Amino acid sequence: PNSHCRCAHKFCINDSPFKYYRKIGLFHSTDAEVSTRRKTFAEVQTERLEQAERTILIKCPPKINEKKLLQYLSSHGKINSHFFFENRGIHALIEFSEKNSIASLQDVIGIPSATEHHVVPFKSRLFIFTLKNPVGQAAAETPIHLSPQSHIPVKDLIQKLCGAESISSQMYTLLNEYQLTEENIKLRFLACSLVRDFARAYFPDSVVKPFGSSVNTFGKLGCDVDMFLDFHKTGKHTTKMKKGPFEMEYQMKRLPSERLATQKILSVIGDCLDNFGPGCVSVQKILNARCPLVKFSHQPTGFQCDLSVSNSIAIKSSELLYIYGCLDSRVRALVFSIRCWARIHGLTNSVPGAWITNFSLTMMIMFFLQKRSPPIIPTLDQLRELADVLLCDFFEYFGNFDFRKNSINLRKGKEVNKPESSPLYIWNPFEQDLNISKNVNQPQLEKFVALARESAWILQKEDKTLRMVNKEPWGLAALLIPFGKSNPNKIKNRMKGIGSETIKSLLDSLKLSNVNNLQKTVGK
Ligand code: GTP
Ligand code: MG
Repeated sequence: PNSHCRCAHKFCINDSPFKYYRKIGLFHSTDAEVSTRRKTFAEVQTERLEQAERTILIKCPPKINEKKLLQYLSSHGKINSHFFFENRGIHALIEFSEKNSIASLQDVIGIPSATEHHVVPFKSRLFIFTLKNPVGQAAAETPIHLSPQSHIPVKDLIQKLCGAESISSQMYTLLNEYQLTEENIKLRFLACSLVRDFARAYFPDSVVKPFGSSVNTFGKLGCDVDMFLDFHKTGKHTTKMKKGPFEMEYQMKRLPSERLATQKILSVIGDCLDNFGPGCVSVQKILNARCPLVKFSHQPTGFQCDLSVSNSIAIKSSELLYIYGCLDSRVRALVFSIRCWARIHGLTNSVPGAWITNFSLTMMIMFFLQKRSPPIIPTLDQLRELADVLLCDFFEYFGNFDFRKNSINLRKGKEVNKPESSPLYIWNPFEQDLNISKNVNQPQLEKFVALARESAWILQKEDKTLRMVNKEPWGLAALLIPFGKSNPNKIKNRMKGIGSETIKSLLDSLKLSNVNNLQKTVGK
């Protein structure tokens, strides 16, 4: 694992019930955009936040020469990516490949000359680019591509949907039109990163992270940015010190409740944004709410923002929804369609009130998907179990599979009687009379079964903690060491113990006793 990964695991995945979801390959690739969403929630967050720290936003004149702007900026360092968008004028988001390029740029940037106003000298990553000779320079400009930051109007959407082939393709059309774009996500993380610059004036270790629909895969273009202040690094230092032969801790202000601390912190940061934040307007401190927050409008990015203080339940909810959203492409298509339907019919509303929230509605949809037969998404308890159990179950399943009698049929999703005597029979799902494993001979199949049994045995029997303490390979690692090497007789012995004959007779006797029990019950 790289350094991001370690950091991500430390703060999020270890505490979450989904800690193995990547290992078991829970994310299958059915979605075109899966490459960005296959990573764990924490990995995506860390990566995007780091990206945002290397990013600046520039307000540009209406006509601008893209090439010249990039050329100018490149003198401060390599540019990784950039895009333009319209939001009360043209803006350019520029992502440098190194963070220090921004410092180099900031060194040469001027402070606005204040004639009518007095400026607050806070140096942010928001800049204004002007042309010294606008008329002469603008003549040579070519139109620039503007990346859309809002979805198409409903009437245009309806027209588009009517041209689709099926209800299912209508749902995917809606999803494509409404979902957050790569550019919009970058802008959201930049907004958090800019707020973090303020928070760091007071709390140098703090981070501002997005949660809710900006990151749970269910956000639509135009939705608010929910962000929270996280002080996790402060916590990390405390744990470190406690390991030594003595204890040392910070002297910190003590308050009667966590809520009061949250309110005080948010109040100060809210004032800070209000007084010094470029483009932060309509700052509202809602400190007496169940979950205290500061609401503000961030003009440079165009987002309505809700800032609160780290709330582990909300983060876990975002991660759970993220997992559900990545599991099956139908989940997001359904959520977007239902949310859109609810919004249009006034069931949901962007202002708080007695109506169903998008969050509640999404939970209702997840419940519905869990209750399908077969379920489209697992329950939270199953998810927790799936992560640990799937690997072992696989080996157990095929270790006990009756290959003599049964074949594997993916079209029907069940075992069916073998149509001929090949040792392993797997129906070709598209050419039903063909066996795709016709080449496999009996010894190879037996080897597979023996190894599957041995692996199931290791996973079930091993004492993980003991192995970890002894620094021995455990779990999957233990399975990846050739079994013959550690103990050449092991496989043979195990085969003797639970040979296929033994298993078969055991199964037969179980079936028999079931029949007997059934007869007894019916008899009663
Ligand atoms: P949008 O309507 O697109 O903003 O959806 P959202 O999921 O971002 O909802 P919202 O902005 O209202 O809330 C942000 C996050 O706060 C949600 O995703 C939840 O994680 C959490 N949240 C909101 N309302 C509740 C609630 O009533 N109970 C709990 N436990 N969490 C909530
Ligand atoms: Mg939200």
